[in-house]
Amino acid sequence: MTGAPDSCGRSINYLRISVTDRCNLRCIYCLPPSGIPLIPRNHILSYEEILSVVRAATEAGISKIRLTGGEPLVREGLPRLVEMLSGVQRVEEVSLTTNGTLLSKQAAALKQAGLTRVNVSLDTLNAGKYRDITRLGELRDVLDGIEAARGAGLLPVKINMVVIRGVNDDEILDFARMTVDQEWHVRFIERMPFNSAVDFVPTSEVQQRIATLGQLEPRVPPTGNGPAAYYRLPGATGTIGFITPLSEAAFCSRCNRLRLSAEGKLRPCLLSDDEIDLRTPLRNNATSEELRELVLKAIASKPERHHLEAGNATPLKTGGAGGVTNRKMSRIGG
Ligand code: GTP
Ligand code: 5AD
Ligand code: SF4
Repeated sequence: MTGAPDSCGRSINYLRISVTDRCNLRCIYCLPPSGIPLIPRNHILSYEEILSVVRAATEAGISKIRLTGGEPLVREGLPRLVEMLSGVQRVEEVSLTTNGTLLSKQAAALKQAGLTRVNVSLDTLNAGKYRDITRLGELRDVLDGIEAARGAGLLPVKINMVVIRGVNDDEILDFARMTVDQEWHVRFIERMPFNSAVDFVPTSEVQQRIATLGQLEPRVPPTGNGPAAYYRLPGATGTIGFITPLSEAAFCSRCNRLRLSAEGKLRPCLLSDDEIDLRTPLRNNATSEELRELVLKAIASKPERHHLEAGNATPLKTGGAGGVTNRKMSRIGG
């Protein structure tokens, strides 16, 4: 279904829902070692409240839902939410972005509940480095999770690799080879700066390195609704995708999404601090029409683009589109 048009003519049909700010990992680019102050539990939307938002959002043109975190699988009983949301009349797809460490135990139940597919964050194939990057995780758990998701039919499983210079950029070719050897769908993501300037690796450089394995052919995307552009290596059954928020000037012109935070704030843009509170109206018994109007208001207020600068990868300004912090990134769910 086509979504409602925003003020730039983009069609908004995709809602990312952060179901929790909690996470069982502490990735170096996302959280400090000690974690961050947590949202009090009674501020977090219940599954019933999320359902009310989704029902209203479908009346405003939303038809694709993605569950995120923190780490969504740390929230108790997630299959119940998947079942509730996949039963909403106009919802065509409910998918999940996860770090994969808890997936092997839950994949079958999630599939049974109506989950369509999963995207798994994995930045290294080296067990020691995985511990270093995530501070708390075990690579084996993620690999088991990926296999369990594939076995359960949560297809296509996409792997998200945030490329960090000097940390995992030496593994770009190893990940690319997995699209040939194991039919993986790998997406290389330009690391966005939150709080501090980072030396991100531009996609053009990643592509040059992969070209040593063979010429990348543009490929029709595997099922998906996101900003990645897809290719494949000769003979590969998997695909290679690139997510280019920093190096591609037109990145935001393809934006189709809104985000709902765990505490019920609707965000028109990942990289802007503007948000609309839905929890207060929800707890004051707002009608579905009132909620739908708030969703339409968020769509109408979507900014044309973010203001990160690719050249030095630092936010151009604070507040507005530049004032995103790490704390918020882990709460918004990417
Ligand atoms: P599908 O294409 O439907 O599989 O999903 P997706 O790629 O939209 O979802 P996923 O959660 O796997 O997102 C991958 C990463 O892309 C995110 O974690 C972000 O790093 C980046 N990303 C996704 N959406 C946006 C966006 O709207 N703006 C920006 N700047 N980055 C985004
Ligand atoms: N830049 C780009 N992607 C990021 N993610 C987390 N932090 C960043 C960042 N600074 C990605 C994770 C995961 C998704 C939820 O967000 O790797 O795939
Ligand atoms: Fe959309 Fe904002 Fe992401 Fe640009 S930065 S693609 S406008 S969410």
